[in-house]
Amino acid sequence: AAGALEFEERPQTLPAIDQAIHGCAKCPIGQLENRAVMGEGPDQAENFSGLMIVGEQPGDQEDLGGRPFIGPAGQLLDVHLQKAGIDRATAYVTNAVKHFKYVQRGKRRIHQSPGAKEIDTCRWWLEAEREVVKPKLVLAMGASAARSMLGRTVSITRARGEAVTLDDGSELWITAHPSYLLRLDGDARMKQAALFDADLAAVAERLR
Ligand code: URA
Repeated sequence: AAGALEFEERPQTLPAIDQAIHGCAKCPIGQLENRAVMGEGPDQAENFSGLMIVGEQPGDQEDLGGRPFIGPAGQLLDVHLQKAGIDRATAYVTNAVKHFKYVQRGKRRIHQSPGAKEIDTCRWWLEAEREVVKPKLVLAMGASAARSMLGRTVSITRARGEAVTLDDGSELWITAHPSYLLRLDGDARMKQAALFDADLAAVAERLR
């Protein structure tokens, strides 16, 4: 895809990818005080033809815990997945960018969105995961995940609600990021939560 870098031969197993991302400093995010967070899925996640869920990047808690989507956004994601009847344990959950990008403010680390170039660089690893996992469906949550999957910036509003067939025959669905819901309240939150639920319901339907 556009902008993607070709570094070396791609690792062919999930443990090999996990090991390789820990040494990655191909973009400035990999040079901060953080750790790479590998995707996580069922034991038999290789060739599993199920659902891959792609977020943006690990947050503070994911960086500390070493697992994707275990902080506030992950907890909200879990609630909505459950509502849609999607068992998170059966999905492969990962991120477009494998390291946490932040700025330090006193003791706090404040999330910063990855730039297009950082997303395009880290796509190397997401593609490696996709080649191994071979998901039937990919759910990209938010603009960074959508950019990683499509190689260009898209509007979530316009892209959601219908699948795009990817070059390997899998289906890409695009939705909002749960962190976006967390930043809203009142009617706006209700409206976006309903849209998010509708997207997850469509994905659940395709998984049946
Ligand atoms: N937000 C993401 O995009 N990914 C995580 O793993 C956690 C929060």
